[in-house]
Amino acid sequence: MASDLPTTPPPGAAADWTVPQDWASYTAADHATWDTLFARQVQMLHDRAAPEFLAGVDMLRLSRPGIPDFAELSDRLHRATGWQVVAVPGLVPDAVFFDHLANRRFVAGRFIRRPDQLDYLSEPDVFHDVFGHVPLLADPVFADYMQAYGEGGLRAQGMDALTNLARLYWYTVEFGLVHTPQGLRIYGAGIVSSHGESLFALDDPSPNRLGFDLARLLRTDYRIDAYQQSYFVIDSFAQLLDQTRNTDFAPLYAAAAGAPVLAPETVIPQDRVWHRGNQAYARQNRTTAQPQPAV
Ligand SMILES: [Fe+2]
Repeated sequence: MASDLPTTPPPGAAADWTVPQDWASYTAADHATWDTLFARQVQMLHDRAAPEFLAGVDMLRLSRPGIPDFAELSDRLHRATGWQVVAVPGLVPDAVFFDHLANRRFVAGRFIRRPDQLDYLSEPDVFHDVFGHVPLLADPVFADYMQAYGEGGLRAQGMDALTNLARLYWYTVEFGLVHTPQGLRIYGAGIVSSHGESLFALDDPSPNRLGFDLARLLRTDYRIDAYQQSYFVIDSFAQLLDQTRNTDFAPLYAAAAGAPVLAPETVIPQDRVWHRGNQAYARQNRTTAQPQPAV
């Protein structure tokens, strides 16, 4: 999503900004890039990703190898949770993004990174969008959370609170961790689609790992050019859905507007601290940020 885009769709796109995926136009090299990334991440994530994510990865194993055909993928996903995947030409305006989510449609880029970009690209491609996001859309609770987020986005537009709400998306959908009986696990799409951050988010002593607190997240800035300085840990997807669906965000937005923004590395007294990071990575990379996949 993005706030500074034109309000009308580009040529060739429908009124809701969707475009055909044009699966037939992918080359053998495109499919090979997907297969390489897919195999590498599945191997990496088996004991790192949330069980719900791992269960949903099977959703992506379709009748043909390579980049999933959105039509076939949407058929399967719709049968599971009522969600679909639709292609868009790039970033879409906030209102369009929220409207798709509120109607259980996930917007995905259709291009795939070049073979020399396996570890970095500057905008989300089909691997990030589909491998990163779709598996959890097959989970009924997370599927409901994403819809609730979209509905919250439509409401937030009238409250001048999109910056605050985007932080919830960032620290959950993109970079969230969840506590499980086996320990912390990854569920954020920005992590699971990144080889380097899949290691960093769980193992590195640099970042903070803090308990999820909705009001606090709405005040917390984030980095878009490097691995995160703080990750937030939910107890369960049910907790995330319940708080998003049943909280009146208006007072939280008002409180956030009247309080200082918290820097990404900040730990506050009321934080539940799973791990207090030494921020060594962030200090090292303050001027030379490590690339990471866009979200
Ligand atoms: Fe993303």
